[in-house]
Amino acid sequence: MESEAPIIRVENLAVEFVDAGAKAHALRGINLALRVDEIHGLVGESGSGKTVTAMAIMGLLPSSSAKIVSGNIQLKEESLLSKTEEEMRAVRGSKVSMVFQEPAKFLNPAFTIGAQIAETVRQHLGMSRAQAKTRARELLAQVGLGSDGRVARSFPHELSSGMKQRAMIAIAISCEPEVLIADEPTTSLDVTLQAQILGLLKSIKESRRMGMLFISHDLGVVREVADRVSVIYAGTIVENGPRDRIFEKPLHPYTALLLRSIPDPRKKGKRLAAIQGQVLDPKDEPRGCVFAPRCPLAKERCFIEKPECGTHELDHASACHYWEESWKL
Ligand SMILES: Nc1ncnc2c1ncn2[C@@H]1O[C@H](COP(=O)(O)OP(=O)(O)O)[C@@H](O)[C@H]1O
Ligand SMILES: [Mg+2]
Repeated sequence: MESEAPIIRVENLAVEFVDAGAKAHALRGINLALRVDEIHGLVGESGSGKTVTAMAIMGLLPSSSAKIVSGNIQLKEESLLSKTEEEMRAVRGSKVSMVFQEPAKFLNPAFTIGAQIAETVRQHLGMSRAQAKTRARELLAQVGLGSDGRVARSFPHELSSGMKQRAMIAIAISCEPEVLIADEPTTSLDVTLQAQILGLLKSIKESRRMGMLFISHDLGVVREVADRVSVIYAGTIVENGPRDRIFEKPLHPYTALLLRSIPDPRKKGKRLAAIQGQVLDPKDEPRGCVFAPRCPLAKERCFIEKPECGTHELDHASACHYWEESWKL
């Protein structure tokens, strides 16, 4: 199968926050390529820069505190970083949309679910009131909320958390976006609901031509849904590759250690191996590898020379000088 050009290409993106006069490096020059018909998992511990990546693509970083120091974000041929706020508003919702961890924060408590979906499609697709109402019902049926109009007439507080998440997904896909970003969409749900929402996202990807960026701190969840995986640590993409290759033979020590910390249902009661040491302080500017202070394989070179995220095996890249040894960890 010939692979198409990415719909989203993030190149060398660096983002800083100024915090009490000091610079916090949220993203230290990341690259990401998101393709159509692909769920791209972005995985890393809390604070590694996943949400900042999503917000940068959406054009929603707080302009007062966040500074894009370098880089480029391309949506096909369009450069998103050179767009005005008004132009970005048109991109959001119609071309790129997002599902958040907390649907309650996103849904408006004062309007019914049906009204909120209808409002979105009227605004972005210019539909009439009647068309929008029909479209809202269709979308709710597609996300598994029935076609009898009951959910359409409900207010957010009348829905369970799983239903609210489905409603938010309905709004996010209502304008047929080319890109859907889902930021920890199942983190606040129990295991059963989580599995249902993951199944829904996969079926949405199957039924539409779109690319999906699926963000999670949980490598086990990413394994369930992603076709391709990027692993982020301290604002740096340390590994990228097809899902199966990442899980079978990680080429970065951080990924290898994360894999060991996924609970294995076959080994009940076995204590999980935690990664030693502290996450890098965002204010630090290490000369070498961001993971070196915690890395069991680190050698002198790792502290003085920054590793490039280079492709070492077919379609599989790692930012480690000693990538050949990583999978043995
Ligand atoms: N609004 C903000 N102001 C200051 N620092 C921020 C802000 N948002 C994020 N950061 C910092 O940027 C880094 C990445 O955060 P984030 O992308 O939210 O991580 P996560 O991977 O958990 O989503 C963290 O060090 C975080 O403290
Ligand atoms: Mg986050």
